[in-house]
Amino acid sequence: MKLTAAQHEQFERDGYLFFPGLFSADETRTLTAEVPQIYSRREPFNVREKGKDAVRTNFAAHLYSAPFAKLARHPRMVEPVQELLGEALYMHQFKINGKMAFEGDVWQWHQDYGTWLNDDAMPTERAMNVAIFLDDVTDFNGPLMFIPGSHRKGVVDAKHDLTTTSYPLWTVDNDLIAQLVERAGGKGGFDAEGRFVPGGIVAPKGPAGSMILFHSCLVHASGSNLSPYNRVSVYLSLCAVSNHIRRFKRPEFIAHRDFTPIECLPDDCLLKPCPVALPWKDGVPASALQTSPDAMKLAA
Ligand code: SIN
Ligand code: MN
Repeated sequence: MKLTAAQHEQFERDGYLFFPGLFSADETRTLTAEVPQIYSRREPFNVREKGKDAVRTNFAAHLYSAPFAKLARHPRMVEPVQELLGEALYMHQFKINGKMAFEGDVWQWHQDYGTWLNDDAMPTERAMNVAIFLDDVTDFNGPLMFIPGSHRKGVVDAKHDLTTTSYPLWTVDNDLIAQLVERAGGKGGFDAEGRFVPGGIVAPKGPAGSMILFHSCLVHASGSNLSPYNRVSVYLSLCAVSNHIRRFKRPEFIAHRDFTPIECLPDDCLLKPCPVALPWKDGVPASALQTSPDAMKLAA
């Protein structure tokens, strides 16, 4: 999939591109069908919502689930990212976020690169986030929100939040968010027909199978899900190979240490048998749980 010149400009300006319905309902179903089994496992790679059983984030399914291993190598997802970053890519992080009906908690305002820099010593922002919706995303089930153009600020001040939710995150404080939103167009308003026209916060919504590419410095968040409908989404974080992380402070199921370039599978791989390596299918190796606060201490 080649991006147009207009899409390149839009990405530079806004920091994200939205592709509604990029994967078909049949393709998306092959992924959604796997989620209950993955979420049911009592393993460190399933982080549950604070005080609840609902899964907030599952990590590294592409290493033990065939449909997700195929998604991690899908040309419709990998090629545009490769085009934007201009280099071979490896998978830095792979998450299936639940945001389950009634239970899904907030994700505070943050930039992903802030966490990758502070925790993983990733040298530069040359990495991309990809969100793929496994459920329809509506106004009501906690859509992802962006501040368009905020990536152009580079890395902004953040604090390590270890308490608000069950997942530690480098988060941006409210004053700075208010300034960024104001600068990006403010609170928005209503046109003559009463339709909402967004200002400095946008929330792309669309059917299951939609994809968003967003810059690693784009400031984003999502509210809780009080609706009766899940909002399961896959978040793939692809990093330019030369920009690989330099510190293994977080376990390998969260921040990967295999910097082998991703090789794409055929475009119809989700609907056809297609051999993929599943190195963690019999369990997460003990080495993947080891961590080191020092740069490259555990490097292979
Ligand atoms: C994230 O920022 O990594 C997740 C946000 C979300 O699932 O809404
Ligand atoms: Mn994020």
